[in-house]
Amino acid sequence: MTAAAPAQQAQEQTMAPLPLPSPARSTLFLTLEGIDGAGKSSHIEALEALFRAQGRAVVRTREPGGTPLAETLRHLVLEQTMDALTESLLIFAARREHIQQVIAPALARGAVVICDRFTDATFAYQGAGRGFDTAVLRQLERWVQARSEADVNGPRAGEAEESALLQPDLTLWFDLAPEAAAARLAGTRVPDRFEAQPVEFFRRVSAGYAARAAQTRRFARIDAGQPRDVVWAQIEATLRARGLIDCAE
Ligand SMILES: Nc1ncnc2c1ncn2[C@@H]1O[C@H](COP(=O)(O)OP(=O)(O)OP(=O)(O)O)[C@@H](O)[C@H]1O
Ligand SMILES: [Mg+2]
Repeated sequence: MTAAAPAQQAQEQTMAPLPLPSPARSTLFLTLEGIDGAGKSSHIEALEALFRAQGRAVVRTREPGGTPLAETLRHLVLEQTMDALTESLLIFAARREHIQQVIAPALARGAVVICDRFTDATFAYQGAGRGFDTAVLRQLERWVQARSEADVNGPRAGEAEESALLQPDLTLWFDLAPEAAAARLAGTRVPDRFEAQPVEFFRRVSAGYAARAAQTRRFARIDAGQPRDVVWAQIEATLRARGLIDCAE
């Protein structure tokens, strides 16, 4: 153990500021969102390869999960019956751990972070899908995603709300009709607690994503009902249009 260890331990016990670069520095935190079966995971490897081909370091991860503790919490959330507040607390606990251990350090060293689901999924699934109080979710979001302790109770004077919290720079929203998603998933895997929900649940989740997409420019809607190559072409076009990959083929 080094001499620095006790100080480090003490820091870990407080709500230490996230080790993030200033928002001005070029970082890229990219999230993939959409209902179960929309095609997120099918494109994540190619996305990673695309950024690596541009010379960027990439960290590919997922939520809930991304660290051993957060994966344990994921397992509980996907397999155990619980009320919506318990579920939301576990998801945000997993997110806190994931941000501190993986996402923030990766962004601080300049890596592109590609994350399969993030907080938009909590608003869509627990908020719109389960009907849980979004004001509570917003409070949890603030506690967990505040860039510093000073931001926990709201942005500081002159600070924009968006820059007070860690948020994705771009969210690729795979929009697919719930019936089409269910048809894609049929017979491919044993459904978890969410995948086993009826189509009406996914209609509400879809509406939740649509509502969030309407609120922020960081959402890019991908028509996920198209064949894979067309979906991929939309992803590439989105990244180019936002200046996130080189324009040359
Ligand atoms: N454009 C497409 N056309 C047809 N089938 C597709 C397309 N994209 C993905 N699929 C198939 O649909 C199924 C679901 O895709 P995938 O696992 O990528 O969805 P997902 O959004 O990651 O779902 P989940 O949220 O449950 O992890 C897979 O069997 C995949 O092969
Ligand atoms: Mg997936």
